[in-house]
Amino acid sequence: MGQCASTKQENDTDESDDESEIEAEKEREALELEKIEQIKKMYYDGIPLFTKDSIRALHQQLLKAKTGDKVWVLNLDGSKSEFEIEVGKCFNGPGEGIETVRTQVSIYYQSIQHLTWSKENWEFVDFCTMPIHHLTQIRDKVTKEFCGRSLPRPDLLREEAEAFFRTCCEEWETSEACKQFRAILDAAKIPVGIAKIVAFACGTFSYISQKPVHSRGISRAATQHALILTVRDVLGKKKDWGSGEIVCYAQDPVYSELDKEILQQSGIQILDDPAGFLEVDESAVVLSFCPNVCVRQVVCDIARPAMMIWDSVILDEDQMEEGRRR
Ligand SMILES: C[S@@+](CC[C@H](N)C(=O)[O-])C[C@H]1O[C@@H](n2cnc3c(N)ncnc32)[C@H](O)[C@@H]1O
Repeated sequence: MGQCASTKQENDTDESDDESEIEAEKEREALELEKIEQIKKMYYDGIPLFTKDSIRALHQQLLKAKTGDKVWVLNLDGSKSEFEIEVGKCFNGPGEGIETVRTQVSIYYQSIQHLTWSKENWEFVDFCTMPIHHLTQIRDKVTKEFCGRSLPRPDLLREEAEAFFRTCCEEWETSEACKQFRAILDAAKIPVGIAKIVAFACGTFSYISQKPVHSRGISRAATQHALILTVRDVLGKKKDWGSGEIVCYAQDPVYSELDKEILQQSGIQILDDPAGFLEVDESAVVLSFCPNVCVRQVVCDIARPAMMIWDSVILDEDQMEEGRRR
């Protein structure tokens, strides 16, 4: 009898625990939904997700930050989020004798869609549009040599990579698409002075791809860089606004040293993330194709460049209203 009574009491306690957990979860979800609505309202009220000041403040901190330092990011609601720099920090696994090491800081630009999608894990709803993440690599615990997915990509030989880039530029320049592009750009009335071209996420081209669809280098990435040179050439000759030199910049964290050298030889200066964004102003032409980050949203928040050239964008405000990633 005593045992039955205590079991009933335990069941009652379990049930009321379950109920209060469900209640707490509901409250939490309601709060999170409220945050999502607040973010949407700010967005529709025209409050920028990204500003040059917040990007500049983060950039200046990152230039000096060492492992163990903390950097802050200004959030949408005026609060600040803090992130520790963990470059060099190691974790066990995945697998026997393997460790994961954080190798590089990465700014995780949050698009409006990312900020406002209902999350499976509610913890992720916040007002921070530029949280700091780290890129990780895996390596042998003892020898510290990178392995598996982190094996270094084999670069082309220098002369081969230079020749590859030259060939891609020539093929692009003699293509029908390039002729049409030149004609359109040449005919365009450009009322403002163009001082620079800023290209984002054009990719690495000077390594030996293992994929059969690719040539030894990556022609898609090389051709996007060739396009930068075409834009410089056409606009440089137009001189609607005088004869100042047009400076070319490219930002992509994936560039190898070989990519950088070849691009610099062609007059394209390499900028580390987020310095490219700080160069964008009304005298800039911005190029970006298939970036992994929301370049268009960042650029439109921080400046009104003279021209933007990009490919079709999959995510738009309609999907934001759907509330979830498809
Ligand atoms: C899907 S690939 C596209 C590459 C190339 N544009 C193409 O069309 O094949 C996405 C590119 O975005 C680059 N990326 C990622 N984060 C970036 C950042 N913060 N700034 C500039 N590029 C970035 C990646 O390194 C990668 O090269």
